[in-house]
Amino acid sequence: MFADISAHNLTYDIIMADKLYIFDTTLRDGEQVPGCQLNTTEKIEVARMLEALGVDVIEVGFPISSPGDFNSVLEISKAVTRPTICALTRAVKKDIDVAADSLRMARRGRIHTGIGVSPQHIYNKLRSTPEAIIESAAEAVRYARGYVDDVEFYAEDAGRADNEYLARVVEAVIKAGATVVNIPDTTGYCFPEEYAAKIAYLVNNVPNIDKAIIATHCHNDLGMATANTLAGVLAGARQCEVTVNGIGERAGNTSLEEIVMALRTHPAYGIDTEIDSKLITKASHLVSSLMNMPVQPNKAIVGRNAFAHSSGIHQDGVLKQRDTYEIIDPQDVGINESQIALTARSGRAALGHRLELLGYKLNQPELDSTYEKFLDLADRKKEVHDYDLLYLVGDLERVQNQTIKLKYLQVTTGTLMPTATVVLKFGSNERMAMASGNGPVDAAYAAIKSLINETVVLTEFLIQAMTRGSNDVGRVHTQVKCGDRLAHGYSAHTDTVRASVESFIDALRVLNVTEKPEGN
Ligand code: KIV
Ligand code: ZN
Repeated sequence: MFADISAHNLTYDIIMADKLYIFDTTLRDGEQVPGCQLNTTEKIEVARMLEALGVDVIEVGFPISSPGDFNSVLEISKAVTRPTICALTRAVKKDIDVAADSLRMARRGRIHTGIGVSPQHIYNKLRSTPEAIIESAAEAVRYARGYVDDVEFYAEDAGRADNEYLARVVEAVIKAGATVVNIPDTTGYCFPEEYAAKIAYLVNNVPNIDKAIIATHCHNDLGMATANTLAGVLAGARQCEVTVNGIGERAGNTSLEEIVMALRTHPAYGIDTEIDSKLITKASHLVSSLMNMPVQPNKAIVGRNAFAHSSGIHQDGVLKQRDTYEIIDPQDVGINESQIALTARSGRAALGHRLELLGYKLNQPELDSTYEKFLDLADRKKEVHDYDLLYLVGDLERVQNQTIKLKYLQVTTGTLMPTATVVLKFGSNERMAMASGNGPVDAAYAAIKSLINETVVLTEFLIQAMTRGSNDVGRVHTQVKCGDRLAHGYSAHTDTVRASVESFIDALRVLNVTEKPEGN
């Protein structure tokens, strides 16, 4: 059942079965975000993930900007062979020399050179003239073609450039040998219609446009990056420049996962990518954890709540027939099951389903009375976890065995090696452990890990102050992985180390981890 495109009352000249190239710039535009910098080893890990994901081009860095960026392009060129490896430059010969050198090991290398084309860039930043910019642009492309066959030109701030002038720039750089022409909305300024009109103008007015691929590169300052990119694609662009989780300067870039899944959920447009969508969640977690950039819970496709149905009506609908409220099967993006969070708004169907997963098949009167108790508890607690449900259905013995409680915590920190002593209560049994770490939280987590019978990995750790001041309450969100199960923990306390430990234990409870047998 496809959407009827004509019903949208828009006419696009180019609607055809076509491949859309995915150009990932997580490691270049994404990495420009303060605090997101990665070392070469971490960049290689991300590049390997992007290769597995199926991206066509990986923009690795801006080699003239630092030895680290140069080295990353060189090393990733060796480590990753299928995608094209791209290096950014200004329209400056020295930049291009260095980029070409960094790409010398690439099986397929691309130089991405460019210059500003909006009045703001031409007159204020570059203190130049429109004609001189066209000359510099063409000259840079010609020079880069002396090194590689694949040269992409970016018309920086094309979003605010005059379309007629932009068309002249694009014609000149294609004539000089550009294989891809990138039309960035650098400041995230355009409306989708405006951006689509810009691409359509180039398609219809640049005589040699058939000799190059048009690329979109949209920033999200007004929250329209994905809409603008899709509008550009429908108007004829065939390369999208994106980042995983939409990370990037200021409000970020177009997010890879949104473009891929928007096109997959609308096959009637006949445009698709070669991305293996089942790896999207994995790639999102990798980028988020390596770059210390938590994904907002309500982020489309990869946010924690993207497939969580907390309202009773929605939960009932999803359990009866998934597509009632989900337009994407969570499995298609690598999530095993909709993570249905039980809250005060959850209905009987969701409660019954969760209890069934825990091994309890209740008849209607039993479910009704448990539901009363559940609502009472859910009014007091934000989210009701599995161990709370076990308590509700009266399985106190199992609760005793599965509930982990923090009985005692003592940390020492400062200039010497931080250490932690932790006493946990598993049911009625108390266990103590000591450990050191690179900080008090790391030490406490190591002590806790030594007391449990499963190998768990902390995959996300987010600490936020509620308001401000040193006496503030710290909120800690954790995400913990155990095999292929993921759980989220939460705690808040004025003692942030304690909140961190409680949050970790909260996630361990959800995962139902139990105590390690004594002596092991
Ligand atoms: O946003 C932008 O204009 C860019 C270019 C350097 C491609 O990132
Ligand atoms: Zn950019």
